[in-house]
Amino acid sequence: MKVTVVGAGAVGATCADNIARKELCSELVLLDIKPGVAEGKAQDMMQCATLLGFDTKISGSTNDYAKTAGSDVVVITSGIPRKPGMTREELIGVNAGIVKGVALSILEHSPNAIIIVISNPMDTMTYLALQATGLPKHRIIGMGGTLDSSRFKYQLSTHMGCSPSDLNAVVIGGHGDTTMIPLMRHATWNSTPVANFLSTEEQAEIVKATMVGGATLTGLLGTSAWYAPGAAGAALVESILRDEKKLFTCCVSLDGEYGQNDICLGVPVVIGRSGWEKIVDFQLNEAEQAEFDKSAAAVRSMNDVLKTL
Ligand code: 2OP
Repeated sequence: MKVTVVGAGAVGATCADNIARKELCSELVLLDIKPGVAEGKAQDMMQCATLLGFDTKISGSTNDYAKTAGSDVVVITSGIPRKPGMTREELIGVNAGIVKGVALSILEHSPNAIIIVISNPMDTMTYLALQATGLPKHRIIGMGGTLDSSRFKYQLSTHMGCSPSDLNAVVIGGHGDTTMIPLMRHATWNSTPVANFLSTEEQAEIVKATMVGGATLTGLLGTSAWYAPGAAGAALVESILRDEKKLFTCCVSLDGEYGQNDICLGVPVVIGRSGWEKIVDFQLNEAEQAEFDKSAAAVRSMNDVLKTL
């Protein structure tokens, strides 16, 4: 199996590092436009092989897509990250051109690849990748909800004093500070609704903290986060290559599911060897559906900006 990670910045390098440590593939290529960066990080990671005990061969490339040929999965992290005070949406002008170019270059050499999009604004970049490549919809997966759901579980676990691994909780909708929807009603602590253990105020606090989870880290770090985004990308690669058929929230193309069309948005999907294999209907109530529709409207207006670029 071969995986390429495009973009050797913090998110891309962390994603590659996780993929290698888990030995998800025999060959891993890290590609970046900045001369030497991907080669340097690849060598640095390879020098961990005997220390960490993995056999994945990692190589770096400065923009030579021929080296990525025959990849089964490609993770796109390219583009500029947000700075404190910026929204993910403000990155669209710069990142749209980058993501489109990367997706097309990848397909020239790996026509059968499944593409995972991490670049922001993630919902619009996923939609753009789908439009630009014309790939079957099941092969384009936006990572956002996987990360946001993990952040939701983190917030729940710190308030409840429990293990995040005992929690089941998902965030659907867009991957934006105001467009994501942590589904509190559906969240459970080993099958018992978390709402049984949290006051209304605590629930509101958790939802808010989850929604601004990325912005909070950007404020602390001076740039966008990388550990959890990289790990979320690697978790999706794992479910694809090992055909795990795990349920993740991912940004995928909707054709009437959840009441939406012509948009890529976060919904629960089964991830396996052929990409996202099916959308699972969580049977939203009226209020949740209204929030989903509002999120879709905001993401759709962002997608419209693509037409002006
Ligand atoms: C985040 O939320 C990178 O968008 C990503 O941290």
